[in-house]
Amino acid sequence: MGPFALPTSSKVTPGKLFPAPPGARRPRRIEIYRWDPEAGGNPRLDTYEIDTDRCGPMVLDALIKIKNETDPTLTFRRSCREGVCGSCAMNIDGTNTLACTKALDDCRAVVRVYPLPHLPVVKDLVPDLTHFYAQYASIEPWIGAQTPPPADRERLQSREERERLDGLYDCILCACCSTSCPSYWWNGDRYLGPATLLQAYRWIVDSRDETAGKRLDDLEDPFKLYRCHTIMNCTDTCPKGLNPAKAIAEIKKLLVERQK
Ligand code: SF4
Ligand code: SF4
Ligand code: FES
Repeated sequence: MGPFALPTSSKVTPGKLFPAPPGARRPRRIEIYRWDPEAGGNPRLDTYEIDTDRCGPMVLDALIKIKNETDPTLTFRRSCREGVCGSCAMNIDGTNTLACTKALDDCRAVVRVYPLPHLPVVKDLVPDLTHFYAQYASIEPWIGAQTPPPADRERLQSREERERLDGLYDCILCACCSTSCPSYWWNGDRYLGPATLLQAYRWIVDSRDETAGKRLDDLEDPFKLYRCHTIMNCTDTCPKGLNPAKAIAEIKKLLVERQK
């Protein structure tokens, strides 16, 4: 699971209050999970009051404002700021989502921000995704083909073949779905989880791939695939509106069909 640990206690204690700046016209409270494994101790919930009159509209804007103006020790990941890179995934008001596409106006009066659940914490809002990425790599997320490509062009697809990848290629690997899945919480060491399984399906149905049989063989395993019990948390939480539960059901269907 990587070099980082879960907190020794899940108890989150009240932390510091950083009051609104003098003259704030629209103050808003944001409570943020803070924990530094190297420093030890219990995690705490720090409270920051920001002036939303002087802040962008998204939760990520508020986090950046806090880091720049109030508390440079606050740690979180972000890159694209437009829902494309997946790095700002976190738990906001109890739901896994992207901080850059979650509007402050759509949050509770006091916004509460935690890291993605059930992962080791590197620091504050940064979870350790080493195991998640290793699982992704295990499904060989690239075209498997022995046949050489045509000499004068790429491996082409028909319009219909390409459309089969819609709703699959758009996955940004943010891990919101996998970390909302109870089966992944308890069996994540061996269960691949919805994100990786959606990606596995993406390559199985790619017309340019010639290894669907081997891919299905690899997934036919009581833990890797069949720990999904169709609870649907994954699909409910996906900030890109994708349906990993359906992709998993399609893999199961292909496994049944090939036995006929
Ligand atoms: S399926 Fe959705 S929630 Fe899951 S990793 Fe992909 S984009 Fe994120
Ligand atoms: S449908 Fe399957 S993958 Fe999705 S949350 Fe439920 S058990 Fe997890
Ligand atoms: S910063 Fe890239 S998805 Fe939020």
